[in-house]
Amino acid sequence: MVEGGGYGDMDAHWWASRRTEMTNPSASAERTAEYAMTASEYAVWAEEVHRLAAEKDAVVLAHNYQVPEIQDVAHHVGDSLYLSRVAAETDASTIVFCGVHFMAETAKILSPTKKVLIPDLAAGCSLADTITADQLREWKAQHPGATVVAYVNTTAAVKAESDVCITSSNAADIVRSIPEDQEILFLPDQFLGAHVQRVTGRSNMHIWMGECHVHAGISPTDVRLTVAAHPEAEIMVHPECGCTTSVLEMVSHGDLPADRTRVLSTGGMVKAAEASTAAEVLVATEIGILHQLRKTNANVNFIPMNAKASCLYMKMITPEKVLRALRDDVFEIVVPTDIANKARRSVERMISIGNSSRGGE
Ligand code: 13P
Ligand code: SF4
Repeated sequence: MVEGGGYGDMDAHWWASRRTEMTNPSASAERTAEYAMTASEYAVWAEEVHRLAAEKDAVVLAHNYQVPEIQDVAHHVGDSLYLSRVAAETDASTIVFCGVHFMAETAKILSPTKKVLIPDLAAGCSLADTITADQLREWKAQHPGATVVAYVNTTAAVKAESDVCITSSNAADIVRSIPEDQEILFLPDQFLGAHVQRVTGRSNMHIWMGECHVHAGISPTDVRLTVAAHPEAEIMVHPECGCTTSVLEMVSHGDLPADRTRVLSTGGMVKAAEASTAAEVLVATEIGILHQLRKTNANVNFIPMNAKASCLYMKMITPEKVLRALRDDVFEIVVPTDIANKARRSVERMISIGNSSRGGE
């Protein structure tokens, strides 16, 4: 916890509420759409965030998995692709990235002259940690001439060794844009890789066996039990989920309704929520998204497939740390110039292809 600045008590209160969620998952499920702060605490904090942002010429970006207060205070909220595009286009001289480290690094790669801050440097990603630049170089040596397609959930050093980056919104479009006879190394997510292979029909694609611990933890059993309890509901599944393959198998066997089941990025989920007329929608991804979905369409009951699917890295960014980032200019993201220059080519290809997925601004 940060000392000074007058928000220490508020942070202690906020953490006490989050601790209750961690030890009592059902409380977490019920509280997801609510603030841990009181309305007046939020108003004071949000005013200070906006005052400091204006003073520092900063834009605050938040991923859809951030806690509700941070989603609501941010100037832009969305999925990885949308936030990368905002970072590339913003006129602000400072970007405060409320998300995980690889996202802030991507913003820095795209906007090298801007100051990019992340409120906690320890906010990493278990999926990005599944492959290093050395491992990728070794894999490339085994497949000379292959095109390397890297999910945005990778370090800058891995991006620098890749030909093109993707996000869950544009992965299939990018793979389709690569000539059919070209061998592909797809990394690091095995479930996203299997999904892309399924929808593109690509056979010459090798897939790295990485996974995100949060999405891998949303199991086929979670899906079966939730669907059995809500048989009329629509279904939204993030392609990183461990259950994606079995969900689509269940669709093909007629056990799940094809017209009501979709595999979507977090931004795609928000867009779909906007248009939904269903009474209930079952959601398989990190539970932070529920706040954005519920804000987008208050007529729908959004139900998590697994209420414990919370990313501890995303939740390292707290309201107090956002304030500290703005007040003290911490923590600055640094990407060595040679790595940034190499990584930029693959990231720029990523942001030029596919639809922009706002995800609730
Ligand atoms: P999106 O690109 O769908 O926002 O996903 C990012 C992520 O980290 C998923 O775990
Ligand atoms: Fe990484 Fe998984 Fe967290 Fe997304 S949810 S940031 S993939 S650890």
